[in-house]
Amino acid sequence: MSNNSEEQITQNVLDSMAHTPDARLKQVMSSLVSHIHTFLREVELTQEEWALGIQFLTRTGHMCDEKRQEFILLSDITGVTMLVDAINHRLPGGATESTIFGPFYREGAAELPMGATISKDGRGEPVVVMGSVLSTDGTPIPGALLDVWETDENGLYEQQDPEQPEMNLRGKFRTDSLGRYCFVGIKPVSYAIPDDGPVGQLLRTLGRHPFRPAHIHLLISADGFAPVTTHLFVKGDHSMVRYTCCPFLPVLATSDIRSRKWPTENDYPSVLASCKDVTPTLSGADRRGAML
Ligand code: BEZ
Ligand code: FE
Repeated sequence: MSNNSEEQITQNVLDSMAHTPDARLKQVMSSLVSHIHTFLREVELTQEEWALGIQFLTRTGHMCDEKRQEFILLSDITGVTMLVDAINHRLPGGATESTIFGPFYREGAAELPMGATISKDGRGEPVVVMGSVLSTDGTPIPGALLDVWETDENGLYEQQDPEQPEMNLRGKFRTDSLGRYCFVGIKPVSYAIPDDGPVGQLLRTLGRHPFRPAHIHLLISADGFAPVTTHLFVKGDHSMVRYTCCPFLPVLATSDIRSRKWPTENDYPSVLASCKDVTPTLSGADRRGAML
Protein backbone atom coordinates (compact mmCIF):
# COMPACT_ATOMS: atom_id res chain seq x y z
CA MET A 1 0.00 0.00 0.00
CA SER A 2 1.49 3.37 -0.95
CA ASN A 3 2.08 5.70 1.96
CA ASN A 4 -0.41 8.07 0.41
CA SER A 5 -3.21 5.61 -0.28
CA GLU A 6 -6.49 6.77 1.13
CA GLU A 7 -6.55 4.13 3.87
CA GLN A 8 -2.89 4.65 4.69
CA ILE A 9 -3.44 8.36 5.26
CA THR A 10 -5.92 7.51 8.01
CA GLN A 11 -3.65 4.87 9.51
CA ASN A 12 -0.68 7.27 9.53
CA VAL A 13 -2.60 9.80 11.58
CA LEU A 14 -3.82 7.12 14.00
CA ASP A 15 -0.25 5.82 14.37
CA SER A 16 1.01 9.32 15.07
CA MET A 17 -1.28 9.47 18.10
CA ALA A 18 -0.44 6.00 19.38
CA HIS A 19 1.63 7.32 22.27
CA THR A 20 -0.78 9.97 23.50
CA PRO A 21 -0.31 9.82 27.29
CA ASP A 22 -3.95 10.64 28.08
CA ALA A 23 -5.93 7.50 27.23
CA ARG A 24 -9.26 9.32 26.93
CA LEU A 25 -7.81 11.96 24.63
CA LYS A 26 -6.31 9.20 22.51
CA GLN A 27 -9.70 7.44 22.30
CA VAL A 28 -11.60 10.63 21.41
CA MET A 29 -9.07 11.89 18.85
CA SER A 30 -8.59 8.50 17.19
CA SER A 31 -12.32 8.02 16.83
CA LEU A 32 -12.81 11.57 15.60
CA VAL A 33 -10.12 11.24 12.94
CA SER A 34 -11.44 7.83 11.83
CA HIS A 35 -14.99 9.14 11.50
CA ILE A 36 -13.98 12.33 9.70
CA HIS A 37 -11.90 10.32 7.23
CA THR A 38 -14.75 7.86 6.67
CA PHE A 39 -17.09 10.80 6.03
CA LEU A 40 -14.64 12.37 3.54
CA ARG A 41 -14.36 9.12 1.61
CA GLU A 42 -18.12 8.54 1.72
CA VAL A 43 -19.11 11.95 0.31
CA GLU A 44 -15.91 12.32 -1.75
CA LEU A 45 -15.51 15.89 -0.59
CA THR A 46 -14.30 18.24 -3.31
CA GLN A 47 -11.54 20.76 -2.68
CA GLU A 48 -14.06 23.59 -3.19
CA GLU A 49 -16.30 22.07 -0.51
CA TRP A 50 -13.33 21.68 1.80
CA ALA A 51 -12.46 25.38 1.34
CA LEU A 52 -16.09 26.35 1.91
CA GLY A 53 -16.09 24.38 5.16
CA ILE A 54 -12.90 26.07 6.34
CA GLN A 55 -14.39 29.49 5.51
CA PHE A 56 -17.60 28.62 7.34
CA LEU A 57 -15.75 27.57 10.50
CA THR A 58 -13.53 30.65 10.31
CA ARG A 59 -16.57 32.93 10.07
CA THR A 60 -18.20 31.03 12.92
CA GLY A 61 -15.14 31.67 15.09
CA HIS A 62 -15.04 35.35 14.17
CA MET A 63 -18.68 35.70 15.20
CA CYS A 64 -17.92 34.60 18.76
CA ASP A 65 -17.28 37.02 21.59
CA GLU A 66 -18.27 37.21 25.25
CA LYS A 67 -21.92 37.81 24.29
CA ARG A 68 -22.25 35.60 21.22
CA GLN A 69 -21.36 31.91 20.94
CA GLU A 70 -21.87 30.90 17.35
CA PHE A 71 -20.24 27.47 17.84
CA ILE A 72 -22.82 26.54 20.48
CA LEU A 73 -25.53 27.65 18.07
CA LEU A 74 -23.98 25.37 15.44
CA SER A 75 -23.94 22.55 17.98
CA ASP A 76 -27.60 23.28 18.81
CA ILE A 77 -28.86 23.23 15.23
CA THR A 78 -27.00 20.04 14.37
CA GLY A 79 -28.42 18.14 17.37
CA VAL A 80 -24.96 17.79 18.96
CA THR A 81 -25.96 19.66 22.12
CA MET A 82 -29.04 17.50 22.59
CA LEU A 83 -27.19 14.25 21.96
CA VAL A 84 -24.36 15.05 24.37
CA ASP A 85 -26.95 16.04 26.95
CA ALA A 86 -28.94 12.83 26.41
CA ILE A 87 -25.84 10.64 26.64
CA ASN A 88 -24.86 12.29 29.89
CA HIS A 89 -28.29 12.23 31.48
CA ARG A 90 -29.58 8.72 31.14
CA LEU A 91 -32.16 9.01 33.87
CA PRO A 92 -34.58 6.53 35.37
CA GLY A 93 -37.95 6.13 33.71
CA GLY A 94 -40.41 8.83 34.63
CA ALA A 95 -37.80 11.50 35.19
CA THR A 96 -38.25 14.66 33.16
CA GLU A 97 -35.86 14.58 30.23
CA SER A 98 -33.14 17.12 30.11
CA THR A 99 -33.51 19.64 27.29
CA ILE A 100 -31.42 22.23 25.53
CA PHE A 101 -30.02 24.91 27.82
CA GLY A 102 -29.44 27.59 25.22
CA PRO A 103 -27.05 30.52 25.39
CA PHE A 104 -29.25 32.99 27.28
CA TYR A 105 -29.11 31.76 30.87
CA ARG A 106 -27.58 34.19 33.34
CA GLU A 107 -26.31 33.40 36.81
CA GLY A 108 -27.45 35.57 39.67
CA ALA A 109 -31.22 35.85 39.27
CA ALA A 110 -32.85 36.99 42.52
CA GLU A 111 -34.71 34.46 44.67
CA LEU A 112 -38.31 35.66 44.81
CA PRO A 113 -41.22 34.78 47.08
CA MET A 114 -43.88 32.28 46.04
CA GLY A 115 -46.23 33.83 43.51
CA ALA A 116 -43.99 36.78 42.59
CA THR A 117 -43.70 38.01 39.03
CA ILE A 118 -40.47 37.82 37.07
CA SER A 119 -41.53 40.67 34.80
CA LYS A 120 -39.87 43.97 35.64
CA ASP A 121 -41.36 45.98 32.79
CA GLY A 122 -44.99 44.83 32.94
CA ARG A 123 -45.06 44.00 29.24
CA GLY A 124 -46.68 40.87 27.85
CA GLU A 125 -49.65 38.76 28.90
CA PRO A 126 -49.18 37.51 32.48
CA VAL A 127 -49.44 33.77 33.09
CA VAL A 128 -49.48 32.00 36.40
CA VAL A 129 -47.10 29.07 36.34
CA MET A 130 -47.52 26.64 39.18
CA GLY A 131 -47.07 23.02 39.95
CA SER A 132 -45.01 20.64 41.99
CA VAL A 133 -41.54 19.23 41.81
CA LEU A 134 -41.75 15.50 42.40
CA SER A 135 -39.34 12.63 42.64
CA THR A 136 -39.99 9.84 40.16
CA ASP A 137 -41.86 7.88 42.83
CA GLY A 138 -44.25 10.82 43.09
CA THR A 139 -43.00 12.20 46.38
CA PRO A 140 -43.08 16.03 46.47
CA ILE A 141 -39.68 17.63 46.97
CA PRO A 142 -39.70 20.58 49.40
CA GLY A 143 -36.99 23.21 49.05
CA ALA A 144 -36.26 22.49 45.38
CA LEU A 145 -34.87 25.49 43.52
CA LEU A 146 -36.35 26.59 40.20
CA ASP A 147 -34.27 29.04 38.20
CA VAL A 148 -36.48 30.38 35.40
CA TRP A 149 -35.90 32.64 32.38
CA GLU A 150 -37.79 33.69 29.29
CA THR A 151 -37.90 36.36 26.60
CA ASP A 152 -40.01 39.49 26.73
CA GLU A 153 -43.03 39.80 24.46
CA ASN A 154 -40.72 41.02 21.67
CA GLY A 155 -38.94 37.64 21.64
CA LEU A 156 -35.70 39.04 23.06
CA TYR A 157 -33.91 38.00 26.24
CA GLU A 158 -32.98 40.97 28.41
CA GLN A 159 -29.26 40.81 27.54
CA GLN A 160 -30.17 41.12 23.86
CA ASP A 161 -32.34 44.18 24.41
CA PRO A 162 -31.06 47.45 25.87
CA GLU A 163 -34.67 48.58 26.46
CA GLN A 164 -35.30 45.89 29.07
CA PRO A 165 -34.42 46.25 32.76
CA GLU A 166 -31.40 44.29 33.94
CA MET A 167 -32.34 40.66 34.79
CA ASN A 168 -35.86 41.13 33.45
CA LEU A 169 -37.89 37.92 33.26
CA ARG A 170 -35.53 35.89 35.38
CA GLY A 171 -36.03 34.62 38.90
CA LYS A 172 -35.47 31.80 41.35
CA PHE A 173 -38.23 30.15 43.34
CA ARG A 174 -38.22 27.49 46.04
CA THR A 175 -40.85 24.84 46.47
CA ASP A 176 -42.78 24.95 49.74
CA SER A 177 -43.11 22.20 52.34
CA LEU A 178 -45.49 20.36 49.95
CA GLY A 179 -43.12 20.61 47.00
CA ARG A 180 -45.20 23.29 45.27
CA TYR A 181 -44.03 26.32 43.33
CA CYS A 182 -45.83 29.27 41.83
CA PHE A 183 -44.64 32.29 39.88
CA VAL A 184 -46.02 34.78 37.43
CA GLY A 185 -44.30 34.99 34.07
CA ILE A 186 -45.53 36.20 30.70
CA LYS A 187 -47.07 34.04 28.02
CA PRO A 188 -43.99 33.04 26.05
CA VAL A 189 -43.63 33.92 22.39
CA SER A 190 -41.89 32.12 19.57
CA TYR A 191 -38.60 33.81 18.66
CA ALA A 192 -35.78 33.47 16.19
CA ILE A 193 -32.39 32.32 17.38
CA PRO A 194 -29.63 34.76 16.33
CA ASP A 195 -29.60 34.20 12.55
CA ASP A 196 -27.47 37.05 11.24
CA GLY A 197 -24.31 34.94 11.23
CA PRO A 198 -22.98 31.87 9.43
CA VAL A 199 -25.30 29.50 11.35
CA GLY A 200 -28.36 31.49 10.27
CA GLN A 201 -27.06 31.43 6.71
CA LEU A 202 -26.61 27.66 6.94
CA LEU A 203 -30.18 27.25 8.24
CA ARG A 204 -31.53 29.24 5.29
CA THR A 205 -29.41 27.29 2.82
CA LEU A 206 -30.82 24.08 4.28
CA GLY A 207 -34.35 25.42 3.92
CA ARG A 208 -34.79 25.52 7.69
CA HIS A 209 -36.26 28.38 9.69
CA PRO A 210 -34.64 29.89 12.80
CA PHE A 211 -37.69 29.95 15.08
CA ARG A 212 -38.03 28.22 18.41
CA PRO A 213 -41.49 27.49 19.76
CA ALA A 214 -42.60 29.70 22.63
CA HIS A 215 -41.16 28.48 25.91
CA ILE A 216 -40.11 29.26 29.47
CA HIS A 217 -36.80 27.77 30.61
CA LEU A 218 -36.47 26.09 33.99
CA LEU A 219 -33.38 24.77 35.69
CA ILE A 220 -34.52 22.70 38.66
CA SER A 221 -32.27 21.42 41.41
CA ALA A 222 -32.69 19.89 44.84
CA ASP A 223 -30.32 18.36 47.36
CA GLY A 224 -29.80 14.67 46.69
CA PHE A 225 -31.34 14.77 43.21
CA ALA A 226 -29.94 15.11 39.74
CA PRO A 227 -30.75 18.59 38.43
CA VAL A 228 -32.86 18.94 35.31
CA THR A 229 -32.98 21.63 32.64
CA THR A 230 -36.34 21.77 30.98
CA HIS A 231 -38.85 24.04 29.23
CA LEU A 232 -42.54 24.75 29.43
CA PHE A 233 -44.11 25.02 26.00
CA VAL A 234 -47.44 26.50 25.02
CA LYS A 235 -50.10 23.92 24.31
CA GLY A 236 -51.05 23.95 20.65
CA ASP A 237 -48.10 26.11 19.55
CA HIS A 238 -48.06 25.44 15.82
CA SER A 239 -44.35 26.10 15.54
CA MET A 240 -43.68 22.96 17.59
CA VAL A 241 -44.24 20.91 14.46
CA ARG A 242 -41.57 22.82 12.57
CA TYR A 243 -39.13 22.87 15.38
CA THR A 244 -35.66 24.06 14.37
CA CYS A 245 -33.15 23.55 17.11
CA CYS A 246 -33.98 20.14 18.42
CA PRO A 247 -36.76 18.58 16.40
CA PHE A 248 -36.81 15.64 18.76
CA LEU A 249 -37.51 17.66 21.86
CA PRO A 250 -40.61 16.34 23.60
CA VAL A 251 -43.45 18.60 24.58
CA LEU A 252 -42.96 18.60 28.30
CA ALA A 253 -45.75 20.79 29.43
CA THR A 254 -48.35 23.27 28.47
CA SER A 255 -48.90 26.73 29.74
CA ASP A 256 -52.52 25.83 30.22
CA ILE A 257 -52.26 27.17 33.67
CA ARG A 258 -54.83 29.86 34.06
CA SER A 259 -56.52 28.79 37.28
CA ARG A 260 -54.90 29.89 40.48
CA LYS A 261 -55.97 26.83 42.45
CA TRP A 262 -53.16 24.50 43.39
CA PRO A 263 -52.93 21.72 40.87
CA THR A 264 -54.14 18.26 41.69
CA GLU A 265 -52.18 15.20 40.74
CA ASN A 266 -53.66 15.30 37.26
CA ASP A 267 -53.04 18.95 36.57
CA TYR A 268 -50.11 20.29 34.66
CA PRO A 269 -47.42 21.47 35.09
CA SER A 270 -46.10 18.96 37.57
CA VAL A 271 -42.46 18.93 36.73
CA LEU A 272 -40.87 15.65 37.59
CA ALA A 273 -37.33 15.84 38.79
CA SER A 274 -35.15 12.81 38.81
CA CYS A 275 -35.19 10.86 42.05
CA LYS A 276 -31.85 9.35 41.24
CA ASP A 277 -29.30 10.20 43.91
CA VAL A 278 -26.57 12.42 42.67
CA THR A 279 -23.80 10.00 41.90
CA PRO A 280 -20.16 11.04 41.90
CA THR A 281 -20.27 11.00 38.10
CA LEU A 282 -23.25 13.27 37.91
CA SER A 283 -22.17 15.62 40.62
CA GLY A 284 -18.77 15.98 39.01
CA ALA A 285 -20.06 16.33 35.49
CA ASP A 286 -19.13 19.49 33.71
CA ARG A 287 -22.55 20.15 32.30
CA ARG A 288 -22.90 23.45 30.56
CA GLY A 289 -24.82 25.74 32.80
CA ALA A 290 -26.04 23.17 35.24
CA MET A 291 -25.54 24.10 38.83
CA LEU A 292 -23.75 21.01 40.10
C1 BEZ B 1 -32.96 29.12 23.81
O1 BEZ B 1 -33.99 28.49 23.98
O2 BEZ B 1 -32.74 30.07 24.57
C2 BEZ B 1 -32.03 28.76 22.68
C3 BEZ B 1 -31.72 27.45 22.43
C4 BEZ B 1 -30.88 27.13 21.37
C5 BEZ B 1 -30.33 28.14 20.58
C6 BEZ B 1 -30.64 29.47 20.86
C7 BEZ B 1 -31.50 29.78 21.91
FE1 FE C 1 -35.07 30.14 24.92
